[in-house]
Formats: sequence, C-alpha cells, structure tokens
Amino acid sequence: MKNFWEDLAKPFWILAPMEDVTDTVFRRIIATCGSPDVFFSEFVNVKGLKYEMENPEIGQIVSHRLLKLGEKELHQKPIVAQIWGITPEDYRQSAAKIVELGFDGIDINMGCPVRNVINQGACSALIKNHVLATEIIKAVQEGSGGLIPISVKTRIGFGQIDTENWATFLLSQNLQALTIHGRTVREESKVPCHWDEIGKVVAINNQMEIEKKAKNLDNSKNKITSELSQLLPKYETKNVVLGKFKSGNEVEISLGKFKNEIETKTENEIETKKNSQNEEINQQVLAWQIANLSEFLSEFLE
Ligand SMILES: Cc1cc2nc3c(=O)[nH]c(=O)nc-3n(C[C@H](O)[C@H](O)[C@H](O)COP(=O)(O)O)c2cc1C
Repeated sequence: MKNFWEDLAKPFWILAPMEDVTDTVFRRIIATCGSPDVFFSEFVNVKGLKYEMENPEIGQIVSHRLLKLGEKELHQKPIVAQIWGITPEDYRQSAAKIVELGFDGIDINMGCPVRNVINQGACSALIKNHVLATEIIKAVQEGSGGLIPISVKTRIGFGQIDTENWATFLLSQNLQALTIHGRTVREESKVPCHWDEIGKVVAINNQMEIEKKAKNLDNSKNKITSELSQLLPKYETKNVVLGKFKSGNEVEISLGKFKNEIETKTENEIETKKNSQNEEINQQVLAWQIANLSEFLSEFLE
C-alpha cells in the first residue's frame, strides 16, 4: 500500500471535505493560494457512483465530484475521495473505481448529521450501527485492494458523547487515518468543539498502539525462545546473531558469534557449561540464556 499519511510532515493541514464547497474548482483555487497538505473531495454517494458505472449513457450524476482538474498536479499534494452510502457492495465497487481514478486515499463519511441522510441509516447513523460500519469498512478495504489508505471521518457520539466506545471500535478496524469532529451528531455545529474528547481518542489510540506492540513483542519473543530452544542444542552453539527487519517486528535469528550484550552476559555460563559434564547444569544454562535473551530482546525490539 502506498500510504501517504505516513509521509506527511507534522503538523499537517487538510482542506476539510465540504459538500457543495470543495468542488474541483474550489480545490484548484485553494491549491494556488492556500496549498494545504491534503485535499478532500466533497462526499460522493456510492449508490449514485455505482449506478453511473452500470449505466454510462446517463452521464455524470455524482462522478463530477471526483474530477481532478489539476489541483494535484499544481502542488503534488495527495487527494482523498470521500464517500457515503448504505450498501457495502456499492462501497466495494466505488472503492475500486476511485483507485482506478488515481486518488491517494478513500475516506468514509460517518459524521454527516443531515436528517435525510441519517434517516437512511447512512453517515453519522453508523455510529449506532457497528455491524454495518464494520461491513462498510471491510467492503472499502477489499474494493480498494489494499492499494491506498482508508480513513473515516466521524463525530464523538450520536445523541450523547460516546467517544470511548466508538473510537475504540473504529481504531480496531485497521484504518490508516481517523478524523474526529469533536461534537455529537445532535450538537451539529451549534456548540463549541469538545477538544478534550479528541484528546481522549488520541490517548485511546496510543494505548492500543502500545498493547499491539507488546503483543507483537510477545509473539516475537515466544517465537524466538521456542526456535532457540531447538536450534541451540542442535548446533551445539550458545551464540546468536539477531537482526531486526526494519519494516516490522519480525526478528531474524541466525546462529553465530553475537556481539557484546549477550556474549558478556553469558560468557561465564558458557565457561561453566564447557567445564561441566553435568547435563542438568547444561539445561539450566540453556534455559537461563534463553530467558536472558528474551529480556534483551524486549529492549532490542523497541
Ligand atoms: C458547508 C459544509 C459542508 C460540509 N460537508 C461535509 C462533507 O461533505 N463531509 C464531511 O465529512 N464533512 C463535511 N462538513 C464538515 C466539515 O468537514 C468540518 O468537519 C466542520 O465544518 C467542522 O466544524 P465547524 O464548521 O463547526 O468548524 C461540512 C461542513 C460545512 C460547513
């Protein structure tokens, strides 16, 4: 996946998606004078988009919202297509089309508070329907083939503030970005933004990241200790070289001479083993080394 979100220098500035405002002409003007770091389209209905794809003779009903008249070329900034609707299959096909059109990302609108939209069960109504929200996100992820990042723009609750529950749900959906409008749906834009609730989402995200890392670390450690417990006796070696792939938490193990930390920590024990004929001690030495290695790895992997 080419995930432009990861390449943005912080802090970054985005032209928010605005229905009937951020059309292609407006975006082009903004590109020449404001130059935000990321552009968003207006929201585009996926049912309309799919209908157009199936009936090309009807011309453009909604797809004109996805025209890119040079704003990207002007400043080479990423542009995200925002979509809304109810049916996962419409989302899936629209996502594939948006990738084909060359957009840099897809954003799912889960925040629009307009009555006739939420009466259909779309946009911010999804805050109350996690099952459909999951299906929609999955359909977009599948439709886009994992080629571009998927994000959601939403609010902090429907009738009342529900940040913890809703944000925890969204942050578990393997999204590449999440935009929070710090008001509930009922509040529309009539009250000041609840900045502290946005802070809460950041804190939840940080906590979840830490837990994910710890889990990966645990898995790596388990994998390493179980592999080592077979490899070390098999090759009658006590020394290990570790390498960490830059892109993840995978750890490569190769047997050989290892640099200072492990070596110095284990040198005496190795000597003990060499001089000992006692198999029980040997086993203890091995167990100690593996435990010691795990401890070392937790620092190494951070
Ligand atoms: C005219 C208008 C149109 C909007 N259209 C969209 C839209 O299509 N999609 C979306 O996610 N948010 C939309 N928004 C919400 C904005 O992106 C942004 O979240 C909101 O304006 C921030 O709140 P504020 O207007 O009180 O500052 C719209 C806002 C306005 C004022």
